[in-house]
Amino acid sequence: MAIERTFSIIKPDGVEKGVIGRVIARFESVGLKPVAIKLKRLSQAEAEGFYAVHKARPFFADLVKFMTSGPVVLMVLEGEGAIAKNREVMGATDPKKAAPGTLRADFATDIEKNTVHGSDAPETAKGEISYFFPEIDVHAYEWVGKR
Ligand code: CMP
Repeated sequence: MAIERTFSIIKPDGVEKGVIGRVIARFESVGLKPVAIKLKRLSQAEAEGFYAVHKARPFFADLVKFMTSGPVVLMVLEGEGAIAKNREVMGATDPKKAAPGTLRADFATDIEKNTVHGSDAPETAKGEISYFFPEIDVHAYEWVGKR
């Protein structure tokens, strides 16, 4: 399988609960290596822009409010089949439906405070990586090839 890069956020509830280390350890344990990490508090404009695809959804205002309520960890993860693997480790969006042993089953409270975000497809991974990390390559092979 191809080496890919994907985008991940540890949301304000995960940072508040003090599980940054455990979330990253879980990623590393399945071969997802962080190749870029930032801890920051998102502005309203950053959160609205990031979630623009959900603008018309009834939960949009609450989502932006929550995502700006405290610091988040923004990460680029790299590994074999990273996009699908990240989604597998996170579990279903709604923690009540997340499989046992997934991050959301273990740490999340509800569909809003669901601890982690992960890109859902190659195109979104590309867009999300460049939204928060304009300085790094979105394609793993470009970087791996230079090592
Ligand atoms: P995320 O993967 O970050 O993408 C959009 C987020 O909207 C999602 O995770 C959830 O945390 C949040 N959200 C809140 N309410 C809903 C809902 N009813 N359906 C889907 N996503 C929701």
